[in-house]
Amino acid sequence: MPDDRPGAQRWVPPDGDVDSLAAAAPACRGCELWAPATQVVFSSGSHDAAMMLVGEQPGDREDREGEPFAGPAGRVLDEALAAAGVDRDVVYLTNAVKHFRFEQRGPRRLHKTPTVAHIRACLPWLTAELAAVRPRVVVALGATAARAVLGREVTIGEVRGHVLDAADDVPVPTVVTAHPSSVLRIREAADRSAALTALTDDLRTAWAAANA
Ligand code: URA
Ligand code: SF4
Repeated sequence: MPDDRPGAQRWVPPDGDVDSLAAAAPACRGCELWAPATQVVFSSGSHDAAMMLVGEQPGDREDREGEPFAGPAGRVLDEALAAAGVDRDVVYLTNAVKHFRFEQRGPRRLHKTPTVAHIRACLPWLTAELAAVRPRVVVALGATAARAVLGREVTIGEVRGHVLDAADDVPVPTVVTAHPSSVLRIREAADRSAALTALTDDLRTAWAAANA
């Protein structure tokens, strides 16, 4: 429901489980991204997962299909999860921002990184998901997710792969790693393979902490 305090723009999710959050999310008007998008892309995976993975925002494919990580970045994520010995179905998978932000260029829709305002507007959903799922570890995939989860800017290379203390907004230990899309963008095969290994190692670290 909308937060009707004067001047407030926060859209307040209902209390409840993941199903009731997902049912309420299509009505969200917490920022302007809902309007040009096809649909909200909420989450997938286990509702009582020990590990919650947070991406940036849905991409073109996800926006059409309504499923997080349904496109090319999802295939990289699946590969890394499999290599780390983690089944996608046992984790909870969501995004920091739940509508696709893009720029229309002729027939193409080009991904645009969400702003801090979009991340803040969408944060109540992530907070509600955390309260519903109660994971033992959160994995922030890339800088946007890290900004949402930790509440501050970080350099991925400096913080990745460590189990970081809980932050105020997201009171769960967090592992920051690279976004799977960044692996896809690497042209040189050896470098790409090293980046996939690094992503896998970070997921393995997070999974061990979630099951410690
Ligand atoms: N990239 C993301 O961050 N999330 C998705 O769901 C798909 C691509
Ligand atoms: Fe609401 Fe998040 Fe969508 Fe903005 S991006 S309309 S805050 S669900």
